[in-house]
Amino acid sequence: IVRGFSSSAVRNVVIKNVTIIGGGQMGAGIAQVAASTGHSVTLVDTSDDILKKSIKLIEGSLKRVAKKKFSDKPEAGEEFIKKIVQKVSTSTDAESAVQGSDLVVEAIVENLKIKQDLFSRLDKLAPSHTIFASNTSSLSICDIASSTNRQDRFGGLHFFNPVAMMKLVEVIGTPATSQDTLDSLLDFSKVLGKTPVSCKDTSGFIVNRLLVPCMMEAIRLYERGVCTCCFYSSFKHPSSFSPIPLTLLIFCFSNLSGDASKEDIDIGMKLGAGYPMGPFELADYVGLDIVKAVIEAFKTKDPKNPLFDSSDLLNKLVAEGKLGIKTGEGFYKHK
Ligand code: 3HC
Repeated sequence: IVRGFSSSAVRNVVIKNVTIIGGGQMGAGIAQVAASTGHSVTLVDTSDDILKKSIKLIEGSLKRVAKKKFSDKPEAGEEFIKKIVQKVSTSTDAESAVQGSDLVVEAIVENLKIKQDLFSRLDKLAPSHTIFASNTSSLSICDIASSTNRQDRFGGLHFFNPVAMMKLVEVIGTPATSQDTLDSLLDFSKVLGKTPVSCKDTSGFIVNRLLVPCMMEAIRLYERGVCTCCFYSSFKHPSSFSPIPLTLLIFCFSNLSGDASKEDIDIGMKLGAGYPMGPFELADYVGLDIVKAVIEAFKTKDPKNPLFDSSDLLNKLVAEGKLGIKTGEGFYKHK
């Protein structure tokens, strides 16, 4: 649905039909808020099994909303959930799904090539007025958009987990993004009940650029050796090696923990900095694979910046498949 035309692009698209590509936590969350605010939503992923899980995620979140909204009327709550879920259709065929879409939001794996391939395919089939947006946490919108011929109708639309609760959306424009596209994305975010902020296409935009280095610093604080005078430290810094008594060595090895425990770091940031979750709790919540992908993307863009250094502990947990809440274990064990 369109208000007016310009030569190459369509102006001020009023977004009614939304296609979300990727049915994980973020994609399901975006589908939920879009459906809850009256949009027709098509949620796309590669298999029906994944999509079934996406709908379960949406229902689970809506149950929490309904419990509050209809605390004394459970039947009205059930009806509320049913109506919203009905607004979400699912598909494994992205190419067909985009054909009736005003907006396509991509929330798939953080891999530039895969995102570029997807958008390049969809670009050939989506109507000319359709706006493309990526929910990438860390990749350049410009790089993703370069695979399409609609760079003026391409922007970043970055949501936060849990999408149903987090009020912020970052709207990212590249030098090629038209003002009409940005206005449409800002309007859409407001219709979703979110507060949009604008940001240029810079690594991590606003929030992840500040948040993820903070998480990484917390991990380094935890994994750093505590006994600076000991044998262990001498291994890490061979120039400072000095022989030490066996008893002290045993004592030191039994104390090979970080500068603070993860529990204390989490409490510190909650009670001392007012964060709702500590950095380890949040890393488990967001997913350790995501944290790792984000910091690696930052490192690729700015290899010399020590803020973007990797962490052996994080890499080890990800390699072991300990990705946080979604796999039952990350920095913490989860039921
Ligand atoms: N759906 C619906 N409602 C939800 C929900 C969900 N998924 N998760 C929590 N809620 C509701 C609960 O029902 C509860 O409602 P009530 O207080 O009215 O009863 C309320 O939120 C609080 O929930 P809890 O009591 O379970 O727990 P908390 O008070 O700790 O709140 C939280 C949970 C909202 C997740 C809060 O801890 C928080 O804000 N955490 C920080 C999240 C954050 O920083 N997210 C950003 C991550 S970075 C990111 O996503 C970017 C990406 O690119 C990496």
